[in-house]
Amino acid sequence: MHALLNTAVKAARKGGETALRHLQHVHQLKVHTKQHNEFVTKVDLEAEEAIIETIRERYPDHAFLAEEGGQTGDGDHVWIIDPLDGTTNFIHGFPVFAVSIALRIKGRLSVAVIYDPNRQEIFTAIRGQGAQMDGRRIRVSNRKDLHETLIGTGFPYRTKEHIEPYMKMLASVLVNTAGIRRPGAAALDLAYVAAARLDGFWEFGLQEWDIAAGSLIVREAGGLISELQGDGDYFRSGNIVVGNPKVHAALRKLLIPHLPEES
Ligand code: IPD
Ligand code: CA
Ligand code: CA
Repeated sequence: MHALLNTAVKAARKGGETALRHLQHVHQLKVHTKQHNEFVTKVDLEAEEAIIETIRERYPDHAFLAEEGGQTGDGDHVWIIDPLDGTTNFIHGFPVFAVSIALRIKGRLSVAVIYDPNRQEIFTAIRGQGAQMDGRRIRVSNRKDLHETLIGTGFPYRTKEHIEPYMKMLASVLVNTAGIRRPGAAALDLAYVAAARLDGFWEFGLQEWDIAAGSLIVREAGGLISELQGDGDYFRSGNIVVGNPKVHAALRKLLIPHLPEES
């Protein structure tokens, strides 16, 4: 597992370096719109290529599920990659973005890396062996009182049907906590919950590559991640609530009453 993690770290650093290299001239970059409010630049593509090449050099038979290139290959080992999480930030030169890489072995998330090239911080986890930041063990916060918590979120800027229930949730969390942050890179938000910089987090409509690495890192740091209600597959819905066990439960209690009927 450590060899796999080392490769993931090496690949994440390559992806992060690619993004940083282009950050200086970001305002000259051509931006393509994939769909409403969803953008891609040549930097996303270049970073993804660098990441996959690094992993492939070492593990030529492994499969990939990457945001820009989709699924390639199949087998027991699948690398789930978001080469640049926070593209909208990146395009604006707003320095909050990350690389997210997870490895799923026989259906189980086993290795995870989230790399923040701006701060040069690296969050990692191996299943059953805890989570680390820059090689030091991290744990979720132990705050119990919701009124003392700092909660992260992501806005539902793509699918309009989420906006109404989301605004009610936002109001409810706002009046019941110490504050809300929306930095703009979901993978980093999850890493920050694991590192106790945020006490909790929720967002609708995320993709597998946004969540894969972060969910393992959060769980290995002692946190919980689930759908807003019940035990459904949050990878499928992309709707998640995250936190230490107390905050996770309390956040759910706040959010659930605002869920639309069919959720
Ligand atoms: C996005 C970021 C953002 C979240 C979006 C994601 P991308 O990823 O994680 O914080 O709110 O839902 O799609 O598109 O920049 O890789
Ligand atoms: Ca993403
Ligand atoms: Ca991305």
